[in-house]
Amino acid sequence: MILAGGFATRLRPLSCSKPKLLFPIVGVPLVESMARWLGSGGVDQVVLAVNHLSDKLKIEVGQSIGGVRVVFSVEEAPLGTAGPIRLASNLLGKDDPFFVINGDIVSNIDLVGMLALHKSSEADATIALVSVPNPSQYGSVLTDSDGIVSKFDEKSGSFSSPGLVNAGVYVLSPRVMSSIPIGKSVSLEREVFPRLVENGKMQSWMHHGFWYDIGRVSEYVRTNKELLERQEAGSGESERDRQKVGHIVRPAYLGSKSRLGVGSEVGPFTILSDNVTVGDSATVQNSIVFEETTIGEKATIEDAVIGERVVIGRGSKIGRGSIIAGQSSIPARSVVPPDSVILC
Ligand code: GDD
Ligand code: MG
Repeated sequence: MILAGGFATRLRPLSCSKPKLLFPIVGVPLVESMARWLGSGGVDQVVLAVNHLSDKLKIEVGQSIGGVRVVFSVEEAPLGTAGPIRLASNLLGKDDPFFVINGDIVSNIDLVGMLALHKSSEADATIALVSVPNPSQYGSVLTDSDGIVSKFDEKSGSFSSPGLVNAGVYVLSPRVMSSIPIGKSVSLEREVFPRLVENGKMQSWMHHGFWYDIGRVSEYVRTNKELLERQEAGSGESERDRQKVGHIVRPAYLGSKSRLGVGSEVGPFTILSDNVTVGDSATVQNSIVFEETTIGEKATIEDAVIGERVVIGRGSKIGRGSIIAGQSSIPARSVVPPDSVILC
């Protein structure tokens, strides 16, 4: 199950018109990257637990994505992080353990290894842990020498954390289901996990690869830039890049059917999703541009995030640090001051 409800307030205004799971990660919708990762771990069906903007997600995702079958479980009112598991109990493993994953995680956690550890232990839940420099924004965890979780604290700072945090990826045994009340909002982190910890029933899986939570705009941007660099390091000059008439400064990613005008310059650290048009002599640096956006001639964009289907008028200047909501229209020759947020 991927938990994909809530209002993604920390991603506003980009999330006003686009659910978090459809945010592009180096040009690929998050839900597709997650489905491929889950598929590589042997998952063949994913339940998307949704409420806000679920119609958009249903249309975009359909019945399968990234090689994995998709079933939707829609809450009438938000049920928290545990309530959706109980709601979808007839879709999740009756006898077998299943994964539950926060819908804003980009990672290469070894799901096969994690599941094997879970099966070989007596635990009711296995939680992936990562080490981060600033644990206060996350659920903090302490373990004993066998990897059994001895303390779990969801952002209250009740103990001093050595930096190990909840990665938002769990394997749960079906018996956890009965401990979640039906039809009400319940928190895994604040209600279910503390009980499991008390009973010594929570195992941990230490992850050493990459891990991001894209739930804040700053983290979303960092994720894209670091993954872009990682991908570029592993690839040569792509066919796509050579087809453009504009100049590309690496690292950069151009989605399919994106077009660069004569004399335009894109990059470094720039990601254009599919169907983005960059006008003649326009420049786009250090920025992320969502799909179907049009950037007018001679416009300049630096250090910005531009939502989907935006029109940036010719000659406009978008100041550093600006965020422009999807479907906005910026008139020609506008000067958008640095750090502006253009709402929907
Ligand atoms: N279906 C559904 N219904 N999903 C929900 C609801 C709800 O009512 N509320 C939240 N979610 C989903 C969010 O969409 C998100 O994918 C996930 O649950 C976690 O919520 P966040 O709001 O992103 O929490 P967080 O990032 O502050 O903290 C969580 O993730 C951290 C790791 O990134 C916690 O699990 C922390 O313990 C953890 O360290
Ligand atoms: Mg999050």
